[in-house]
Amino acid sequence: MTVLEVIQRSTGFLARKGVESPRLQVELLLAHSLGVPRLKLYLDFERQLTGANLETVRELVRRRGNREPLQHIIGFTSFCGFEIKVNRHVLVPRPETEMLAERAWQHLAAVNPSPGAALDFGTGSGCLAIALAAQCPGAHVHAADISEEALRFARENAALNNLADKVQFHSGDGFAALPPGLSFDLIVSNPPYIPSTEIEALPPEVRDHDPRLALDGGADGLDFYRRLAAGAENHLRPAGRMMLESGDGQSEQIRQIFVQHNWVVETVEADYTGRPRILTLRPERM
Ligand SMILES: C[S@@+](CC[C@H](N)C(=O)[O-])C[C@H]1O[C@@H](n2cnc3c(N)ncnc32)[C@H](O)[C@@H]1O
Repeated sequence: MTVLEVIQRSTGFLARKGVESPRLQVELLLAHSLGVPRLKLYLDFERQLTGANLETVRELVRRRGNREPLQHIIGFTSFCGFEIKVNRHVLVPRPETEMLAERAWQHLAAVNPSPGAALDFGTGSGCLAIALAAQCPGAHVHAADISEEALRFARENAALNNLADKVQFHSGDGFAALPPGLSFDLIVSNPPYIPSTEIEALPPEVRDHDPRLALDGGADGLDFYRRLAAGAENHLRPAGRMMLESGDGQSEQIRQIFVQHNWVVETVEADYTGRPRILTLRPERM
């Protein structure tokens, strides 16, 4: 069977299984299994695949047809250009979060006096902490999570990006993970923000493969924000800021929660699709 025939047949298979962008998914899986860049497939449409090639790609396509995320099958994703290993213990980093990372490293790089200190709160794969440590080489970057499995991955990802000694990891529930006395110029977080009752209706790739801990934000999806509004101030230095991602349609409720806890919402920025997503906040004391 040729490359083109495999692409066409597998695309039909994934489309019938309800997978979005089925042709792209097949091309990425095939390129991964052959160890070539995706665009190289277009130069090799008539290449005959060996029996071993076919067996490998069939298994990958079968897994994708069962709605396993592409990133889990390949084992990696890219976040702000950094290679991030993922599996069922960590949320697959989303493109929306890259914008939060960019805003966060811009802020951290401008902290005066430098170097600044930052906390990635609920680090998961470590993607935000890794981006911060790479973009702000002198900064003191900390990352915390309640999930030991996620932290193991976050450490591996830091090492994979040659940043093992640039991020300090802390394990525990909320701010209890931190050693006493630590304070930050920046706290950045992409909290679990899906309302519990909406999880069942998510696509299988998310519902069955992202960790529940990374998704479930309680009854209205906002529990984690309430905890941050109540507890983060004590961990911020005098001119410190907090930058948070919000779920689609949640930013106004989040703004109200923080205002009730005496925070000032400085900006609410839209993502690339125009949805309000990134809140920058500071305690009212300043
Ligand atoms: C939405 S994920 C974000 C992961 C990563 N920062 C990203 O943007 O891809 C939220 C993370 O918060 C962690 N988490 C959930 N509850 C927590 C808690 N009580 N204390 C600390 N971390 C928690 C989860 O384990 C998960 O890794």
